[in-house]
Amino acid sequence: MNIILLGPPGAGKGTQAKILVDGRGMVQLSTGDMLRAARSSGTEMGKRVAAVMDRGELVTDEIVIGLIEEQLTGNTGGSGFIFDGFPRTLAQADALDKLLSKVGQKLDAVIEMRVDDSALVRRITGRFTCSNCGEGYHEDVKKPAKEGVCDACGQSGTFNKRADDNEEALKTRLLAYYKDTSPLIGYYYAKGKLNTIDGLASINEVTASIKGVLDAVSEGIAVEA
Ligand code: AP5
Ligand code: MG
Repeated sequence: MNIILLGPPGAGKGTQAKILVDGRGMVQLSTGDMLRAARSSGTEMGKRVAAVMDRGELVTDEIVIGLIEEQLTGNTGGSGFIFDGFPRTLAQADALDKLLSKVGQKLDAVIEMRVDDSALVRRITGRFTCSNCGEGYHEDVKKPAKEGVCDACGQSGTFNKRADDNEEALKTRLLAYYKDTSPLIGYYYAKGKLNTIDGLASINEVTASIKGVLDAVSEGIAVEA
């Protein structure tokens, strides 16, 4: 099953994608993670996108479509792909349709994680990750069991925050979401793929809602958007 997790910055796309990877053997394709990896390994492309990302603007369609194409053609997809943070424009959505049919796959569901903008500031400013293994945390809802030690890899003292996780860049990221990405909600509704869930609920409740959508889709039941 191939799905898109759609939602603004801080909606919980990455958190839920990781849960699906661990629980169902799906493959997470996060363009944000791919771009950050390109930056930290110092590739030409990584250097070109760094300032754009730090300001909270979108990088070009050409770059992200190229990244997704590379992954789709070089990856068997486990029990399905989770598109996290892609597509973000109508041009990217069209490209994804074409790429999926090129590799003999199709899109099964789009899950819109609806959240209240006022909750996003705290979600973003409280977020930190283990710089060793990438495990994500939050100062309010998901702290490491032992302070300063990563639950996932056991390393201590190696947490970091994203350069675009500040209020100024968040404003730009939100504007980009409403201007360029939110039209995808109507686009996928019209295609009969849209499922909307409450992204403001607890992490476990959101996981349960996503499970409900995936079960319904795999049983061929239409889910009300
Ligand atoms: P990207 O990395 O995709 O960032 P984003 O869309 O801004 O989303 P985030 O990763 O910030 O949020 P999330 O929804 O994953 O939330 P998370 O699960 O971490 O993109 C970054 C940049 O790269 C873009 O600005 C752009 O420059 C570029 N880019 C990437 N893709 C692109 C594309 N396709 N086209 C063009 N440019 C592109 O959760 C956030 C926090 O909240 C965490 O701390 C978590 O623990 C907590 N949390 C999660 N769920 C809950 C819950 N239910 N209740 C309480 N807290 C929760
Ligand atoms: Mg993310």
